[in-house]
Amino acid sequence: MQKINRSLALAISVLLTATQCSMPKTENETKPALSNKQLNSTFAIDEYTYARPAEAVITHLDLDVEVNFASKIISGVASYHVVNKTGTNMIILDSKGLEIEKVTLGDGESTEFALVGYSQYMGRKLEITISQSTTRINIYYASRPEAVALQWLSPQQTADKKSPYLFTQSEPCLARTWIPTQDSPGIRFTYNAKVRVPKGLMAVMSASNPTEKSPDGNYTFEMKQPIPAYLMALAVGDIVFKSIGPRTGVYAEASIVDQAAYEFGELEEMLTTVEKLYGEYRWDRYDLIVLPPSFPFGGMENPRLTFVTPTIIAGDRSLVSVVAHELSHSWSGNLVTSATWNDFWINEGFTVYLERRIMEELYGKSYTEMLMVLGYQDLQATIEYMGHENEDTHLKLNLAGRDPDEALTDIAYEKGALFLQTIEEAVGREKWDEFLKGYFDKFAFQSMTSDRFVEYFNKELIGDDKELAAKVSVNKWVYGPGIPETRTINVSERFAIVDQAVASWENGASPSELGTEKWTTHEWLHFLRQLPSPLSEERLRLLDAEFDFSNSQNAEIIAAWFIHVISNNYKKSYGKLEEFLIKVGRRKFLSPLYKELAKTEQNKKVAIEIYKKARKNYHAISYTTIDGILGWEHRYLGMD
Ligand code: BES
Ligand code: ZN
Repeated sequence: MQKINRSLALAISVLLTATQCSMPKTENETKPALSNKQLNSTFAIDEYTYARPAEAVITHLDLDVEVNFASKIISGVASYHVVNKTGTNMIILDSKGLEIEKVTLGDGESTEFALVGYSQYMGRKLEITISQSTTRINIYYASRPEAVALQWLSPQQTADKKSPYLFTQSEPCLARTWIPTQDSPGIRFTYNAKVRVPKGLMAVMSASNPTEKSPDGNYTFEMKQPIPAYLMALAVGDIVFKSIGPRTGVYAEASIVDQAAYEFGELEEMLTTVEKLYGEYRWDRYDLIVLPPSFPFGGMENPRLTFVTPTIIAGDRSLVSVVAHELSHSWSGNLVTSATWNDFWINEGFTVYLERRIMEELYGKSYTEMLMVLGYQDLQATIEYMGHENEDTHLKLNLAGRDPDEALTDIAYEKGALFLQTIEEAVGREKWDEFLKGYFDKFAFQSMTSDRFVEYFNKELIGDDKELAAKVSVNKWVYGPGIPETRTINVSERFAIVDQAVASWENGASPSELGTEKWTTHEWLHFLRQLPSPLSEERLRLLDAEFDFSNSQNAEIIAAWFIHVISNNYKKSYGKLEEFLIKVGRRKFLSPLYKELAKTEQNKKVAIEIYKKARKNYHAISYTTIDGILGWEHRYLGMD
């Protein structure tokens, strides 16, 4: 029936354009097809969604689901309020690997639907027949155990080892593997959710959250502010809550919650710091949840509840810039959102810039300079690796048809932040902060393209000041490759001292004479990065004997040390390396280590033996990358 309607509509529109004559209106008649450009006039064209929001768009979700650990399935109803803007007879959603049982409309009557097409990064188009007056669709569905957004962990893979755990990761386009939705960063909706989980577990979402377990395993949530689908998030586990400040706190498994509350003890202060700079926090509470070590990222800025890796708990608060980063997304990203994944730097570049401003307020300039130099080194290495003229080094990307994961490079983060730092230096901090505050306010809860930002920036800040325009060269940064030649490099006085230590060590000083007593994590990272290569076994042994790198509880330091361990075949620490690779699933650490191992035949064999044991602990996001590095046969998991 639906097919007939569609071909009829097509026939009518073809006839209309062909003959330019009017046809008698019938009940089934739909509007003639408009061009994509016209249809999406207020939405930027997003290549990673099938949705056509200019025709029919979702505005609110009522989610009612059950989480089943035995079958690894989330199932229930996703009920949407929809706005049919053009009187179309079809609303299109995104779906990847979802089983759709039925779809009903507001009156409870079933309506036709079809899952159409398939693409590896987009999944399938969910076409639902609606009428001009439809305002509600109810989708009865179930996710599959292989859903990429979901990681189901056994008790053994958690900190307390007693209960299973589930967490979601929806960015960039994975929300559609656990909820049928219009999965584009440019489409926002509010939501309410009812979630049923096994008794004894707590469920938390990117929404208002419980602080106690419910006796029956039923939880309700409310997210009043409109968010895009990539910020939909759920975690379920045997977790407890500990308050930090009036608006802040942390969720974690019982055995680590005290440590976590200490580590993130400055959370409230971070929050008030950004508010002072860039305007009120608009999401009510700000809490963290510390996930099990397989979480593939450092952090994920799920609104009201940032998800973080336990690898940032170093015991000395030295890795909290990740939290400053995710918190900053409450302005850059969650409030003013990249319109498409090509504009990813609008989220991440701004956020790295804000993160460093928080760090400067809390820890001072010389501390933040270290972070900036480490970031600059990463950026240079990335550009070197990609090639200086590579179009993927532009801030505005052209991902066209590729895995959106490829947007996730230091370009968006570090080139983006360096660009904003350049503007700050050109216009002065005061004026720049005023601009930013106005920008977050004016475009709150809206999406932003690179082009729109450039236009707004030129109008508001540059005006007709030619000298300033030349200093900033906005077009070179946004639409050009590499780092514009006008940029001066970042320097750090504290790193200059580390450089001297490296030099005296190279000249024969013993490790104990290097004056490292007051070094922070960042100085150690710089030290490890600056060490020469190759290094003899004896020299590595002496370094390890003095600084005990191989037993470091600091994931950043131990990962940087392991690079030397691998490149110099320092076999004594291979046991520790294996332990680390089996336990930790954070891709930022795994990729460089497996890449380093893959450089020689012998080490590649070691890598594969470790990987056989470790892979099952990794999230699909991580193992997909490592499969590529090791040439592991990657069977695509029936997600069509
Ligand atoms: N939003 C990102 C994580 C992300 C990006 C997930 C793209 C999926 C696709 C998050 O804010 C982030 O940038 N995390 C960083 C930490 C940060 C301190 C640079 C990470 O996980 O490494
Ligand atoms: Zn980020």
